[in-house]
Amino acid sequence: MAMTQDELKQQVGQRAVDFIEDGMVVGLGTGSTVKYMVDALGKRVKEEGLNVVGVPTSDRTREQARSLGIPVKGIDDVDHIDLTIDGADEISDDFQGIKGGGAAHLWEKIVATNSTKNMWIVDESKLSHQLGSFPLPLEVIPYGSSQVVKKLAAKGYKPEVRMRDGQHVLTDSKNYVVDLHLGEIDHPHELANELIQMVGVVEQGLFLDTVNTVIVGRPDGPEVLQAR
Ligand code: 5RP
Repeated sequence: MAMTQDELKQQVGQRAVDFIEDGMVVGLGTGSTVKYMVDALGKRVKEEGLNVVGVPTSDRTREQARSLGIPVKGIDDVDHIDLTIDGADEISDDFQGIKGGGAAHLWEKIVATNSTKNMWIVDESKLSHQLGSFPLPLEVIPYGSSQVVKKLAAKGYKPEVRMRDGQHVLTDSKNYVVDLHLGEIDHPHELANELIQMVGVVEQGLFLDTVNTVIVGRPDGPEVLQAR
């Protein structure tokens, strides 16, 4: 029987913790795939007495890690992070990524850029030749956000403020999320520079030249790819 997307996520989550060694400081990403990874890490901590410190990228992940007995520290309380394991919304052939589907890309990027190595764990549906099939999330300060949205619309970027049950989706920093429906992104570095220079945009979801290793969930088992 074909594996479900959820089973593929579980498979890569479990495979990823094989890369965690005793004594490591590990960045813990956010999302449904990472949830399986944190479960598997909690099991290793409990059963093997693995000695690690987790640096969570969201309140959700912090609560889950704590509940499983994984010691956690904040980003400002560690002097380095050996390896961060996170999910992704889309990964291109040249290993560039879009993240932020779970509204956590600001904290995720802060942790990623302070990590020696970054690993992404995804089911195979997240792979695409060129970025752009997943809407690009921006984290935007609420104050003046309508003006930012107007400017994005004028550029033709088709912004959509992320709402749930009639309320703004809020990030853990209490900011809004605006998703851009861009279609294929031909020049991601230029776009990233343009977006981050817009006043009111705190972070954008292009994660460029970031990932070192990708684990892809496949029906015949997880595939480990070296990106850079
Ligand atoms: C959260 C993220 C997640 O890593 C991304 O959305 C993937 O999530 P999932 O594993 O649930 O598909 O970037 O901001």
